[in-house]
Amino acid sequence: GQATVTVNAARVTADISPLIYGQFIEHLGRAIYGGIYDENSPLSDKNGFRKDVLEKVQALHTPLMRYPGGTVTKIYHWKDGIGPKAERPVRRNLIWGGEDNNHVGTDEFMTWSNQLNAAPFLTVNMSTGTAEEASDWVEYCNASGDTYYAALRRKNGHAAPYNVKYWGLGNEEAAKEDAGVLQDPADYVKKAWYYAKLMKLQDPGIELIMVGDDEHWNKTILEGLHPICNYISLHLYAGSQPGKTNSLFSSVAKMEEKVISTAAQIKALTPATLDTFSKWYRFPGRKGPVKIALDEWGIWESGGKGAYGLEQTYNWNHALGVASFLNMFQRHADVIGMATWAQTVNVLAPLMTDEKTVVCQTIYYPMALYRQLCGSRSVLSTVNCGVLPDTEQLPQLDVASSIDDAGKVLTIALVNRSATENIDVQLKVEGAKTRGQWTVHELNAPSMDAVNTLQEPGKNVVEHRTRTLPADTRRYAMPAHSIAILQVG
Ligand code: AHR
Repeated sequence: GQATVTVNAARVTADISPLIYGQFIEHLGRAIYGGIYDENSPLSDKNGFRKDVLEKVQALHTPLMRYPGGTVTKIYHWKDGIGPKAERPVRRNLIWGGEDNNHVGTDEFMTWSNQLNAAPFLTVNMSTGTAEEASDWVEYCNASGDTYYAALRRKNGHAAPYNVKYWGLGNEEAAKEDAGVLQDPADYVKKAWYYAKLMKLQDPGIELIMVGDDEHWNKTILEGLHPICNYISLHLYAGSQPGKTNSLFSSVAKMEEKVISTAAQIKALTPATLDTFSKWYRFPGRKGPVKIALDEWGIWESGGKGAYGLEQTYNWNHALGVASFLNMFQRHADVIGMATWAQTVNVLAPLMTDEKTVVCQTIYYPMALYRQLCGSRSVLSTVNCGVLPDTEQLPQLDVASSIDDAGKVLTIALVNRSATENIDVQLKVEGAKTRGQWTVHELNAPSMDAVNTLQEPGKNVVEHRTRTLPADTRRYAMPAHSIAILQVG
């Protein structure tokens, strides 16, 4: 096939938040226990965290880590997870099954996310918890005075406050099937205000994420909560029909539509009367525009293993889906403020563990490469190319472009989503003089079905090729089913 990619390096559309490369870890199945943490393993450090797993997560350079759920938030009480481990209560995990001895709690999570240099993002329990409990958690994490919970944190060995900035007001509160009780968006607004108030009175500097759902729910909660919340969350899980590789890209495109329609709802908001709110409640309202937090995004297919079938094997087609998602986040950088992949280890995850080793699934590689190479400002690009069969006219080639802070390095991220066709890509760069040679990072695998699994831990189907193209090059021959990140200065 043929394609023309036109990039206008001078048309910066938005800053790209580095927080789009976030991750999420939940008290669910083998995500934490047997995933990031195994106190009986020789592979673990003195705190019980698997060193081999930590190293692989570190290599993703994730700037943000969401915890403790997910749906488990609805039955999770943070006070169970602090203090001497032997004294912590063992609870049934009523959401996902199994028992939780709470040996990983707030302090352990903070120590772990600190080793990743990731900012913590905590979700509070709005179902079986209370606003006071959430407010106490803010105090435990962020207060520096002589108050009870700040002193308790110090007693537990953590002198300095954690300064947790991002707080989720519940999780999927519109979901009827969970332990949740809130199905009326107006009820959520009322309750969330109360939580927000008590939490912000503890620390006015925190940023809050309201929990979104469909358009009807979002309209009510955006209008009701935007004076006080910085983000509205959306959960985007893509999936495919068996044997139909292109159906995954159609699903990602549907997710993009959700982002677009939510962005329109945000734009339609009337300006917040922040002064009124801060006068009454003695804490500042939101500064800056409301952004979307994709605080769970991922690929969820039927037929996985483990708890609720969530241990999934991701093939190369899924890796191209991940790259398409990351392109989409860059294209909508004006409205997407953060995104956390669900989830980091074993559950819907790029990393799989057994007691002996950790394996990087196919999807790990685009996550790592995008984080490493893509620029901090989104620039306009368009593509003219063939369409993918059996889709709603989706382009074969998916494109997002960015430049770095200094405005010197242009990065073009390309995904050739065709399973069969190589593409001869013509590159047209406008709005900048490119002088140096091009560097191309190409990721590919033998086929769309190729997988990395724990059964063959030494085998990696993903090939990363780096090559250079002469400065005056305007053509790139892109192999079928590949991802390429092109850079020029
Ligand atoms: O990531 C798995 C689950 O998916 C989360 O707990 C929940 O929020 C979502 O439905």
